[in-house]
Amino acid sequence: MKKPIILINFKAYENSFGKKGVDIAKRIEKVSTEYSTEVILSVPATMIPILSQEVSLPIYAQHVDSYPLGAHTGSLLPEMIKEAGAKGTLLNHSEKRIRADEIHDALIRLNRLGLESVVCVDRYELVEPMALLKPTAILIEPPELIGSGISVSKAKPEVITNAVKEISKVPGVFIIAGAGISSGEDVYTAVKLGADGIGVASAVMKAKEPEKVVEDFIKSGIKAMDEKN
Ligand code: G3P
Repeated sequence: MKKPIILINFKAYENSFGKKGVDIAKRIEKVSTEYSTEVILSVPATMIPILSQEVSLPIYAQHVDSYPLGAHTGSLLPEMIKEAGAKGTLLNHSEKRIRADEIHDALIRLNRLGLESVVCVDRYELVEPMALLKPTAILIEPPELIGSGISVSKAKPEVITNAVKEISKVPGVFIIAGAGISSGEDVYTAVKLGADGIGVASAVMKAKEPEKVVEDFIKSGIKAMDEKN
């Protein structure tokens, strides 16, 4: 049975690091284990070592730089996140844009190191060109809906359908959708429209009971996947 990809971006919310960061990761781990899914946690760089030790879920960085090893003060390099225990990274998030050549260089390094990669794009026209650079997945997010509570599934379903069409030209790369995802229904719609899963932040990170939100997302995503197969 195919499972939906669910990627939770911790961003820099006040509960994304320290003891609170470990607590929320463990709650998400518990619910995802119950449904035999692997929710991806994209966390602040400082949290990669502890979370990859304490939690069995795939831990991603939120960004890497593409510089070579050497004199590059303040850089976070693919080799560093691998050593810290990450399984992959986001690249080019709307809140951390990088140039196309930097995305390309970073992907070459990540692939060589056996690390996964999710490249973010803000429009469907970029899905195919970015997918040709061979990331693990593309995450499409209309920036104006990020953190809005109004989901891409409801407000801009055509962004998902167009992105799904584009990704079909590049076999082997997943497409996931995000921005404003708030309910199980949003996840269900995104998957029914052809996405392999979703990316989310605020609906989980700001929730009183994040595990309940994640459970709803997982259940709805699995239901939509089952109906598609
Ligand atoms: O990386 C996912 C993120 O940008 C979506 O944010 O708060 O709209 O779920 P949010």
